[in-house]
Amino acid sequence: MKITLTHNKNQLLSAPLTVIAVTQKNKKIQFKGLSSDVTKQLQDYQHVQNFKGSLGDELLVSVSPKQSYYLLGLGDEKKLTSEKLRRFFAKSIQQVEKINEKKLLVNLDTIPNVTSSISKTEILSEAALMTDYKFDRHKNKKIKKSITELIFFTAKSSKKEQEVIIQANRTCESINFARDLINEAPNILHSERYAKIIEKDVKDNLKRVKTKILNKADLKKEKMNLFLSVNNGSAYEPRLVHLTYTPSKSNQKTKHYALVGKGITFDTGGYSLKPSGSMMGMKFDMGGSATVYAAFRAAVLNQSPHKLTCLLAITDNAVNSKATTPDSIVVARNGMSVEILNTDAEGRLILADTLDYACDLKPDAILDAATLTGACLVALGSEVGALLSNNHKLSLQLLKCAKERDEYLWELPIIEEFRIDMKSKVADLKNIGTPMRAGTATAAAFLEYFIKDDIPWAHFDIAGVGDSQKHLPYCPSQGASGLMVRTLYQYLMN
Ligand code: BES
Ligand code: MN
Ligand code: ZN
Repeated sequence: MKITLTHNKNQLLSAPLTVIAVTQKNKKIQFKGLSSDVTKQLQDYQHVQNFKGSLGDELLVSVSPKQSYYLLGLGDEKKLTSEKLRRFFAKSIQQVEKINEKKLLVNLDTIPNVTSSISKTEILSEAALMTDYKFDRHKNKKIKKSITELIFFTAKSSKKEQEVIIQANRTCESINFARDLINEAPNILHSERYAKIIEKDVKDNLKRVKTKILNKADLKKEKMNLFLSVNNGSAYEPRLVHLTYTPSKSNQKTKHYALVGKGITFDTGGYSLKPSGSMMGMKFDMGGSATVYAAFRAAVLNQSPHKLTCLLAITDNAVNSKATTPDSIVVARNGMSVEILNTDAEGRLILADTLDYACDLKPDAILDAATLTGACLVALGSEVGALLSNNHKLSLQLLKCAKERDEYLWELPIIEEFRIDMKSKVADLKNIGTPMRAGTATAAAFLEYFIKDDIPWAHFDIAGVGDSQKHLPYCPSQGASGLMVRTLYQYLMN
């Protein structure tokens, strides 16, 4: 789908299909931002007279064989929020896709302004581009996408809007790139190929980014034994993808942010094997890495003013005769010994060594994302992401970013008791806490041991939000959601 902006009234008059938003004032329908002739023309229709314009109401009106209007009710203008607009516009995109019209015009001037730091043009672009996503590369019969061109009409001339559309395009293209990676089958997207795909994408699409890919021998040199221990049972080599972006204007004051992502291309659980029901879907276990990569990609394309590092820790968690057994003790990159009591708590192991590696780069902050714990779904459901941090200022900033981008994010605590819970009787640490007790937070408490020099760090557990979001019309009801990319992006741009 291509989005363009036009000020040309002729386009408005000749478009075969136009979306017009209507709102309500004192429960009465109001047409705003429409020319009086079109308003009159519409009001001549009986079904338009019966149309209330309540939030989510929709009506297709054909005024001639060649021209139709899709009326979208947005309800009380005062109660409209950015997220309501995003969701209901996404719904209308879904509806219009069924009509089989290639070109869709949206009359921006009929859409009310909402109080948000994100402009309505960006909200609508984002809703359309995120809704437009389909994963059908393995189907012989492709899912039909009807709308190829979305045209925003506004009578007001505005250079900024044009730029906003281009930026939203880059962000959503990155979100959809991540969704493609997450949805890809694990036999196809194994560690070695995953690293190659990222390397190629950087080369083809990103400027000012340096790529370094560490292989198994490199990880050995780095003493990343926890990471390597997870890879022991694999048919493929592990990869640590290390990307560095330097902005065009950088000096001593330039901030440096490091992103770290869990890239388990498939999680069998290892010797602590998952039951088959829970193993299904574990191709999503590289979701954290795809999420941070998408945020990094969007921030680079939209020229973030900050220096950015992106670290993707990639392997599967498989079983063979060399796979790590429970009770193993392994020395981490930072020198701490870890008793691996459960090989299914593997994400924290690859992250631990990667976080320690990230600290050596001395960034101003480290953000990691991971599908880390099933407990996250128990605590917050599948709709809310978990945030854990060692720095109150950073967590406040991130919660604000999430709010601005309308993504659900909730902070959970790391308390001293959880840190103590991660101590082992025979080694410095163990990789699981007390069963059925604050699993998301004890996992974060474990990660925190690998943050050096009090570097501000925040951890996003996306085990719930990364996957199927049935309630969001701009996310596929099944498969990778692409959520949290926008929150991270918001942080990286400001
Ligand atoms: N990848 C899983 C977490 C997960 C579970 C994500 C369900 C999405 C849905 C992770 O590696 C894992 O297996 N965690 C264990 C930790 C436990 C052994 C302490 C879990 O959550 O059961
Ligand atoms: Mn696991
Ligand atoms: Zn996992």
